[in-house]
Amino acid sequence: MNTLSTIPSVLRVQNLELAYGDNPILKGVSLELRRGEVISLLGPSGSGKTTLLRAVAGLEQPHAGQIEIAGQAVFNGQTGVEVPAEGRNLGLVFQSYALWPHKTVFDNVAYGLKLRKTTTKDIHDRVSDALKNLGLAHLAERFPHQLSGGQQQRVAIARALVYNPPVILLDEPLSNLDAKLREEARAWLRELIIKLQLSALVVTHDQGEAMAMSDRILLLNGGKIEQQGTPTEMYSHPTSLFAAGFMGTNNTFKGRIEERGEDGICIRIGEHPLWGRQRGTSSGPAGGEATGVIRVERVKLADGPGRNRLPMDLVTSMYLGDRWEYVLDNGQTMVRAHGAEPLPAGPRWVEIPPEQLWVFA
Ligand SMILES: Nc1ncnc2c1ncn2[C@@H]1O[C@H](COP(=O)(O)OP(=O)(O)OP(=O)(O)O)[C@@H](O)[C@H]1O
Ligand SMILES: [Mg+2]
Repeated sequence: MNTLSTIPSVLRVQNLELAYGDNPILKGVSLELRRGEVISLLGPSGSGKTTLLRAVAGLEQPHAGQIEIAGQAVFNGQTGVEVPAEGRNLGLVFQSYALWPHKTVFDNVAYGLKLRKTTTKDIHDRVSDALKNLGLAHLAERFPHQLSGGQQQRVAIARALVYNPPVILLDEPLSNLDAKLREEARAWLRELIIKLQLSALVVTHDQGEAMAMSDRILLLNGGKIEQQGTPTEMYSHPTSLFAAGFMGTNNTFKGRIEERGEDGICIRIGEHPLWGRQRGTSSGPAGGEATGVIRVERVKLADGPGRNRLPMDLVTSMYLGDRWEYVLDNGQTMVRAHGAEPLPAGPRWVEIPPEQLWVFA
């Protein structure tokens, strides 16, 4: 059986540093993409996702670190190795599809192969294959303006796949699609990547998309990797307040550390104690500031007072289609919770299960 560590890596980035002028953007980023794996690069706007992808592609110049593709060094800040973009054999899909408007779908996909002096028969076979894989065979003779947004985006992906690159890099490939199409597209894109046994590094700033599409997620924060792991690890075991806040939909409580016990930490929210589990690496002194985080779907409503319950006013019930969302307020904190039916406005008890409350102090 293949354990993860015996699967060869197709892309290895080590301690990559890159600055624009004297503005550092990547501050020592390392990652490893294994064959057949999909990694999502997630992070807020400006965190360096596109810059990292462009550096891997050879479109930006780092000043330190190393990049290896399929075992070959393509950048090494120490030895000065720097393979130009066209020598890196990567498939690239950028946010704007940038199709050639006056070329047919077939010619758009064939263009790069023609530049590489591939034979006519080979071009025909490879383009036909790529179009078939993306469900575009019947559109080969159309021009880009005769396609829907979703179809144009598939052409851009076909164009990247036609070289059989060992690694494809996709920068927000689905961001031009509307919400419904986007959900469908992430399912087929993942299926396609697996079917063709590609390895992919996909940039997104949508955490739902990252969780649905990838084997692993790298969360970038200010040019550094904040945390990496499987979607489940990232969702269930965030190691910092930033990671907890970025993944999932949360309720947040600002309070002070009251005491530490055998199986938890107690924070005071106004006059109410709330027990939770300490998360993160630091641990402040009693009386210090602390933040409690709980996923919206973990909050419960209760009939009366009790341990880890806060009195709050239910302000409104909102229908989300598959469930109801309750908005509760106590003048200082707003809490959201989910349930199966609408509830009348009025006083309630909000229960925060201690094992579900993560305390960062
Ligand atoms: N050519 C450039 N010259 C100078 N600064 C740049 C250049 N390109 C990007 N930056 C800066 O580098 C930082 C990282 O940008 P980058 O495009 O990598 O962010 P991102 O994570 O892709 O964000 P988004 O989610 O908005 O696409 C930003 O502060 C940006 O302003
Ligand atoms: Mg970007």
